[in-house]
Amino acid sequence: MPELSAVPRINLLRSARLWWSDIAAREGKLAAVRQTIGGLWEFVRDSTPQRKRQRYGDAAYDWDYRVNTTSAAVSWRDRLLAVFHSPHQPTEPELFQEMLTMLQRQAGIDFRDYLFLDLGSGKGRALLMASDHSFRRIVGVELLPALHKIAQENLAKYRSESQKCFALESICADATDFAFPAEATVLYLFNPFPEAGLRRAIGRLEQSLRAHPRAVYALYHNPLLEQVLGESAALEKICGTNQYSVYASR
Ligand SMILES: C[S@@+](CC[C@H](N)C(=O)[O-])C[C@H]1O[C@@H](n2cnc3c(N)ncnc32)[C@H](O)[C@@H]1O
Repeated sequence: MPELSAVPRINLLRSARLWWSDIAAREGKLAAVRQTIGGLWEFVRDSTPQRKRQRYGDAAYDWDYRVNTTSAAVSWRDRLLAVFHSPHQPTEPELFQEMLTMLQRQAGIDFRDYLFLDLGSGKGRALLMASDHSFRRIVGVELLPALHKIAQENLAKYRSESQKCFALESICADATDFAFPAEATVLYLFNPFPEAGLRRAIGRLEQSLRAHPRAVYALYHNPLLEQVLGESAALEKICGTNQYSVYASR
């Protein structure tokens, strides 16, 4: 089992304070004010009836598999916390399939040898979709207890004739402190952290690769902070599109 830090108490004020000090230290106080106002404004816009309806927009997957993975029905507190971490948004099935096909084509790997690890796994949709492939095991790490609980329910409920992996697990923890298992890994990142968090997670991956050199592939979906992975001496980009980038350990 991976070593885990204790699950932090998720506290709005603490989250806001850490978020503020990370941005102020890196970009200055003015940038922190601007980004705080921007994040809160987005939260208010996201609370309008029209946006609420949009969040139900991608319910086809849930309907097909009788699960609950959309960003609808997330409490206002968890949506406010998301301003300082990142909002829950499930991966679109066609794009997920495209990323895995691209990875297999470029790297020629056999998923049976790999752990699929989703840092910031939300309600667990990527875990469910990964289980239709023959990964050795599948692990998701989610910060918010309410989303983790729903992910656990989804893992228990999921039925698909194409399911190939049945060793699925959702862990409730801060994924930026996650100690990577020393296994060949397909790491999935759907834009899960603000910059400071992503730097911490990639730093931990680098440490882990130094201690246990092995094959790790990172699928970075919606790569808004591409420079963080690009700057890592432990990773090299092997392919990508404007929607995702694929990195391999050197
Ligand atoms: C864009 S969603 C991705 C959901 C899932 N990976 C998928 O593709 O269906 C990002 C998730 O990261 C979670 N998150 C944000 N910061 C986190 C942290 N420090 N540790 C663990 N999860 C975190 C958010 O709560 C959110 O559920």
